[in-house]
Amino acid sequence: MSVSISRVVDVAGVELWHDVEERSVPFDHPGLLADPFEESLSMFREDQRTERIVMFTAHDGDEVVGNEMISYPLLDNLDNALVHLTVVPERRRRGVGRFLAGHLLDVARAEGRKRAMGWVASPFDAEGPGLTFALGLGVTRANENVRRELDLEGLDDGTLDTVQRDLVGNRADRYQLVTWIDRAPDELVETAARMMGRMSTDAPLGDSAWEPEAWDAARYREGEVAAASRRRRRLAAGAVDPNSSGLVAYTDIGVSTIRPEIAYQWDTVVDPDHRGHRLGLATKVENLRQLRRESPESKRIETWNAASNSFMIAVNDALGFRPVERTTAVELAL
Ligand SMILES: CC(C)(COP(=O)(O)OP(=O)(O)OC[C@H]1O[C@@H](n2cnc3c(N)ncnc32)[C@H](O)[C@@H]1OP(=O)(O)O)[C@@H](O)C(=O)NCCC(=O)NCCS
Repeated sequence: MSVSISRVVDVAGVELWHDVEERSVPFDHPGLLADPFEESLSMFREDQRTERIVMFTAHDGDEVVGNEMISYPLLDNLDNALVHLTVVPERRRRGVGRFLAGHLLDVARAEGRKRAMGWVASPFDAEGPGLTFALGLGVTRANENVRRELDLEGLDDGTLDTVQRDLVGNRADRYQLVTWIDRAPDELVETAARMMGRMSTDAPLGDSAWEPEAWDAARYREGEVAAASRRRRRLAAGAVDPNSSGLVAYTDIGVSTIRPEIAYQWDTVVDPDHRGHRLGLATKVENLRQLRRESPESKRIETWNAASNSFMIAVNDALGFRPVERTTAVELAL
């Protein structure tokens, strides 16, 4: 094996990096597609205040055999580095992955980060090669997540009406449901940011050493700019408490304008003072209606939840999501 590693420094490098994604994502994650090239290019070009992304490609002669990515959070989690590496399917089990992992961990260590964090997928009922590989590097398991899928072609307004009538009923009546696309209304952005901060503390993190994230309106707006530059639409829904006129529940779905056939459930959170009113389900139903209206090209929606997150999973089960894959969050001290 004579593999060399190059940092991605130009568009040609992003093309090679992205080629690995196109070849590997459908192979490793049945039902998923790689994000479009434009997203990879935008990640490479972004100059964000919230995270810094560095990409590498691995070569054997003229052939690209793998890729790597590191994201360094910049506003919080300053000890953590988020890492990901892939070897193209035809070149696996020849030591390339171990070589890339050594490089990636050295890079994160040289940056002064203390901990590498990553996610590895497995079939729903077995331990996948990524997990075996990662455990061989000495990682610890920090959390178990499950990816679920909802077939949007089999979902109609009648199903949503039934879920709303039978499971939400009048329990959310005192709240006003709102929806928006891409840009949160100015009067809601402050509380949208607060809800996003809650995602980093209230979603079950298992043993993960992820610190609470510091969110303000400016950070929320930056997320909107980043989504737009990655050509993703954000479809959001929330519940407003008439007493405070801010958001007390929030959910959003991301859809690539270039590859809209798969939609991604992003975040869902309900303020602790307002739990028990079925607001998680009510806002999700509202947002699925919005998705069906605004993105008829979307054929299915994907969501990831901690396996222990029984409330959110009950909501997703009620909507018809079915489990398809496990994802283990892993960590390694550097
Ligand atoms: C995980 C991945 C990077 C491994 O790449 P690779 O080049 O095949 O890895 P290596 O050849 O260096 O394997 C190193 C060790 O991992 C383990 N391993 C890797 N693939 C395995 C498999 N299919 N079954 C069992 N063990 C496996 C073995 O212990 C192996 O050592 P050995 O061959 O001496 O027994 C590759 O399968 C991949 O790209 N998967 C999709 C993305 C991913 O899961 N990345 C995980 C890190 S974030």
